[in-house]
This record gives sequence, structure tokens and C-alpha cells, in this order.
Amino acid sequence: MNKIFSEPLSTEYLKIKIKGLPQYLHNTKIVQLSDFHFDGLLLAEDLLAQAIDVTNQMKPDLVVLTGDFVTHNPQPIHQLAKRLKHLQSRAGVYAILGNHDLYFSHSKTEITSALTAVGIKVLWNQVAYPLGSELALVGLADFWSPEFHPAPVMNMLNIDIPRIVLSHNPDSAVVLKKWRVDLQLSGHTHGGQIVIPGVGSVPSWIHASRDKIPEFFWPWIPFIKGKWPKVVENWQWSQGLHQVGTNQLYVNRGLGTFPPGRWYCPPEVTAISLV
Ligand SMILES: [Fe+2]
Repeated sequence: MNKIFSEPLSTEYLKIKIKGLPQYLHNTKIVQLSDFHFDGLLLAEDLLAQAIDVTNQMKPDLVVLTGDFVTHNPQPIHQLAKRLKHLQSRAGVYAILGNHDLYFSHSKTEITSALTAVGIKVLWNQVAYPLGSELALVGLADFWSPEFHPAPVMNMLNIDIPRIVLSHNPDSAVVLKKWRVDLQLSGHTHGGQIVIPGVGSVPSWIHASRDKIPEFFWPWIPFIKGKWPKVVENWQWSQGLHQVGTNQLYVNRGLGTFPPGRWYCPPEVTAISLV
């Protein structure tokens, strides 16, 4: 049981067009999992087990984990890594870190080594070629970290080679417009967690309505700016597929849940088929 109200796991199936994708990579299947927040409270064990099962049943070519493995204390990563060890992927499991994975000065090292110990490769401003030299996989440092510097790694790539970029916070898509990004995979927003059908997520609705509210009141209203913790600036990208300039961005709703819970915003496993 979740200790915080969540919803049944949902699998999202996407077909993503990649320009210049070599023939032998057509129908490559990538599964994305995000925002675990494995801390004994924000993610139920049965939901995690189900997400791992669903992933393995899809027989993915590649599995990517887009950050926020823990919430504050990095200690639970050791237990989480034991579970993530069961992920099966033809070309490996790759991860990036989120803002919550950098909470304490020792978090980054502890989380990176726990994941590495179970065979998960953690990318931090690095590029890998798990599917061969004709498709690059870039993993960036978290957008809020002082080490978010995409230029060296992005400039190193051959412009003719398509690339998938893992970047925890979708706001980074604004900066990444400078480069070719065939597909950016993000998380971080939890989809806004509370969605009003037909309207969208509550945070994105409040954020979009802010111009109708006198600026004086903004500090007291969540999801605008002020004393509330900032999540993202671009709430219009709180979940799903978006075109950002000439780049494509997909935002996964994540698995963990912050209080007060989820509403019409189920935790997600994303199955991406490249075409
Ligand atoms: Fe995050």
C-alpha cells in the first residue's frame, strides 16, 4: 500500500520519429522510469515491483532512469539498487541524477556508487553509445546543479548522429534548444500530480493564470514564485510530449508521490518505440 494516495500504474506507449535513425535501429524499444523517491514513504514497494515487472515484460533494448531515486537521505539507495538490479535490458540500464539525489554533499557519490555496483551506468555530463555508434545517449547533470554545463558534451557530438538526451528537469529544454536534441527525456514534475480532466494539472493552470493575479499576491500562491519551493518554470511541460523549437521533449510523471497525493495523474512507465 502507498502511504500517500497514489493511483494504479499506467504504461504510456510512444512512437517517436528520429531523423536519420539507421534502419537497424527502427523499432528500438526504450523504457523510461523516473522519480522513485524511494524513502519508505513516497513510493510503495508493490508499485515499484510492478514497474520493474512491466519493464521486463516489454523486453526493452534500453532502460533509462531519469533521476530522483531518493528524497532527502541517500541511504535508501542501497535498498532501491537491490530492486533495480532486476531490470533486464538488452543494451543496459542508464541513469542520471535528479535534484533530490544531490541533497547532501555525499549524496551524489553514494547514489552513483550504489547504482554502479548493480551494473547501472550513471551519466553525468557524459555520452554513451549503448545501441551502437549511430545513436548517442547523453546524460546531463541536474539543471539546478552548478555542474549543469551541456556545452562540452553536446558540442562533442557529430551533428549527423541522432541523440537522446536524459535531463531530469524539463526546464533544461530551454537551454538545450541551442543543440540538436532528437528526444529529451525528463521527469521531475510528477505530472503536476493533481489533474483536472479537461483543464490540465493544477500547477500548470495556476501558473498560466498568474497574469490575472496581482503580482503582490504571488509569493503566497504555490507554483508561481516566492516563498514556495520552485519546481519548474515551464509548467506547460508538466507531462507528455512537447515540441521545443526543433527538439522533442517527453516528460514522465514518475513513480513516487508527494503529499497530498495523485489525482488523474497516475504513476508512469514509458515505453518508447523509435521510428
Ligand atoms: Fe526532481
